[in-house]
This record gives sequence, C-alpha cells and structure tokens, in this order.
Amino acid sequence: MYSEKVMDHFTNPRNVGEIENASGVGTVGNAKCGDIMRIYFDIDENQVIRDVKFKTFGCGAAVATSSMATELVKGKTIYEALEVTNKAVMEALDGLPPVKVHCSLLAEEAIHAALWDYCQNNDITIEGLKKPKSDIGEEEVEEEY
Ligand code: FES
Repeated sequence: MYSEKVMDHFTNPRNVGEIENASGVGTVGNAKCGDIMRIYFDIDENQVIRDVKFKTFGCGAAVATSSMATELVKGKTIYEALEVTNKAVMEALDGLPPVKVHCSLLAEEAIHAALWDYCQNNDITIEGLKKPKSDIGEEEVEEEY
C-alpha cells in the first residue's frame, strides 16, 4: 500500500524538532482529520532556507510527507520553496494511496504558513503566496504536544 520511500520517511523521519528563534513558523490543522503540523524555518540573509524542522500531531503519511517536504525545501530560496507543492512531495515519495492525499496538503500548507510568517516578520512579499487560511496560531496548539 505504501511505497518504500514513504515507509523510509515514516520510520526514519528527517528534520524532526524545532528551531529556537526561528525566522518563520507555520502551524496548520487538517480540517478533514484534525491533525496538526508545525514547521520552523531558519532563513539566512540571502533568503535561503538554511535549516528546517517540523513537528506533527498527525498520521504516518503526514510524517512521511512532511519529512520529504523539509528535505525538498532545505537549501532553497523562499521563492523556490513556494514551488514545493504537495504534488511534488508525493512524486518524490513515489505516490500515496488516494485516501492519504489530503495528508500531504498539511506539509504544503505549513510551508506556506511559515513563509508567510517570515514575510510578515521581514516586510517581504512573495508573489503568489497567500495568507494561510488555517494557521491556527501558537497558543491554541501548545497543549497538543
Ligand atoms: Fe490526518 Fe493523515 S489522517 S494527516
């Protein structure tokens, strides 16, 4: 049912954790299942994502897609990171079962929310980046971890 890559990223997820004093943090919830994802970016002065970490209160597919998504955005500029869609993440994982496709959206939305946060903090606009609908904020989810 799951590809080897999905199983690999699920059992050995990359970039789990958090970044203190992160340049941007995005927290999103999946309306379908209630799962939660938070992504932290450390962005350097050239707008390159130097480091990225994630934490999730989510299913195995959400862990695997977030792990892969963090690998894909690391070292990219904030503009390139916007191109890392859930479709790109799923392709990099050799696919997901159809019922799990919504899980991959969590990573994409969390990346967008963290980029948005960075832009807000630095007074930058990224063309095509919209204000995250589902950024549920810091305070509300603190107890979930
Ligand atoms: Fe909720 Fe996968 S079932 S993110």
